[in-house]
Amino acid sequence: MAKKTVVIGFLGSQLDAGQGAGRWEKWRPTVSLAQHEDTLIHRVELLHSPQHIRLAERVKEDITSVSPDTEVRLIEMALADPWDFGEVYAALYDWVKAYPFKPEREQYWAHITTGTHVAQICMFLLVEAGFIPGVLLQTSPPRKQTHGNPGTYTLIDLDLSRYDILAQRFEQEHRDAQAFLKSGIPTRNKHFNALIDEIERVAVRSTAPILFTGPTGAGKSHLARRMFELKKARHQVKGLFVEVNCATLQGDGAASTLFGHKKGAFTGAVVDRPGLLCTAHEGVLFLDEIGELGLDEQAMLLKAVEEKRFYPVGSDKEVASDFQLIAGTNRDLRLDVAAGRFREDLYARVNIWSYELPGLSQRTEDIEPNVDHLLARSGVEMGRAVRFNAEAKSMYMRFAQSSEAAWLGNFRDLTASVTRMATLAEGGRITTDLVEAELQRLRWMWQRADHDNDAASEAVDLSQWIEPKTLADMDLFDRLQLQAVIGVCLTAKSLSDAGRRLFDRSREQRSAVNDADRLRKYLAKFGLSWQLLTKR
Ligand SMILES: Nc1ncnc2c1ncn2[C@@H]1O[C@H](COP(=O)(O)OP(=O)(O)OP(=O)(O)O)[C@@H](O)[C@H]1O
Ligand SMILES: [Mg+2]
Repeated sequence: MAKKTVVIGFLGSQLDAGQGAGRWEKWRPTVSLAQHEDTLIHRVELLHSPQHIRLAERVKEDITSVSPDTEVRLIEMALADPWDFGEVYAALYDWVKAYPFKPEREQYWAHITTGTHVAQICMFLLVEAGFIPGVLLQTSPPRKQTHGNPGTYTLIDLDLSRYDILAQRFEQEHRDAQAFLKSGIPTRNKHFNALIDEIERVAVRSTAPILFTGPTGAGKSHLARRMFELKKARHQVKGLFVEVNCATLQGDGAASTLFGHKKGAFTGAVVDRPGLLCTAHEGVLFLDEIGELGLDEQAMLLKAVEEKRFYPVGSDKEVASDFQLIAGTNRDLRLDVAAGRFREDLYARVNIWSYELPGLSQRTEDIEPNVDHLLARSGVEMGRAVRFNAEAKSMYMRFAQSSEAAWLGNFRDLTASVTRMATLAEGGRITTDLVEAELQRLRWMWQRADHDNDAASEAVDLSQWIEPKTLADMDLFDRLQLQAVIGVCLTAKSLSDAGRRLFDRSREQRSAVNDADRLRKYLAKFGLSWQLLTKR
């Protein structure tokens, strides 16, 4: 059975007016609806103000006279000021909320030709938000007003996806945004493309925290910034992109750098400092290597993310900052949570949208489009076009996609590699000789990184660190082990970094509680400490 048609609209105090016989000569939008012979309106919900009750009754009578099957219900809506948006929207909203819509049996047309402009806008918003489950109805007068000519009407469905032409534009916009996130590189890896597709949708729709994980150089920082720029272009953020690497935040200064401090909070705090969370207000805060954040700072950050308020160091007055958090890490935070180094509640909070960016060796089919992109970019930067000779290109690509190419630094390695070749290219041509030399360099570089740990230990002279007497009493076994451990420490970025490298297996098996601590204790047995080792 066809659904019944119900019109919801305001009485037009001007357009629907007229009490005398002449009113039939004039086009009246609400009455005209009942005059279309091919369309039966089953019911009209006619909203009117108390002072227009007589007019409303006249319109009701006229509708019934031209269309006896149309039921007209008069609904009184008292508005102190029909031009006051807040008041009109609230009144309409309350009425709509209480209205027993039966969309399975009736279809609803919200008439927007009558009523003040404010009332029309409110009607539009209610339909758009789905509070009125229907479409907009627009009526227009006939070209020539003659007796009984009802003019025309148009239905507007605000479900924009139904309009093909708009749908195509939205589709194009999605594609543009995805291309933007990928810096315009036509990547082929299915997994990566699906990832970007989702990130794009999340970027433009959500302000929830996002976590990017993945190996170093995979493009976490790059993507975070691109996401911000996309949001900026869509007017979804007003503030700044504030980036901080948590590994660089040390000790007391960490909290103050992030949350700011009050003058006099500690020695050296001579003026109030706003802190990076405040700087990121209405923008994006990118916390790189979030796993390096201390437990106290994690607790403060959690509160700031959840409540959008926090206390600067040494202050008893809360400050507000509304920012979107993007976190980056190349560690597995779950292990840190298991080991008690990372707060579980904060992890849960940042892990709503978490994306693992694959390393280059996991998407070898994307190396070529990236090389093309990087080459074009260096061309622009150097002011001259650079190209591969055909044979040189296939030679480079063969190596780049082979298992021999470790791509340990991912994009960083690839960018550096392409830049080197572009710089050295005579006459803008990359030859096989050039590629040959570059491949040597890459092989050497990755091999060296691999042997770093072994090589480092060979160079360590224990007598530099240990009293001769103690050394004389040590077994060869212990000396070799200590030598290797110190070797790793000397090439590590931090105590945690050294701990991670030394206890890499037990770490993966989740049996190491805290590798930094384990290392600290080991060194202490020989009267050594991280500070001591790194001071020289
Ligand atoms: N999609 C990309 N297109 C072009 N350049 C990129 C892309 N992704 C990353 N890069 C470049 O590669 C380099 C490394 O990227 P990025 O700093 O984002 O890596 P990361 O994952 O944050 O690494 P880390 O874990 O060491 O912080 C940067 O110079 C960046 O500009
Ligand atoms: Mg980074």
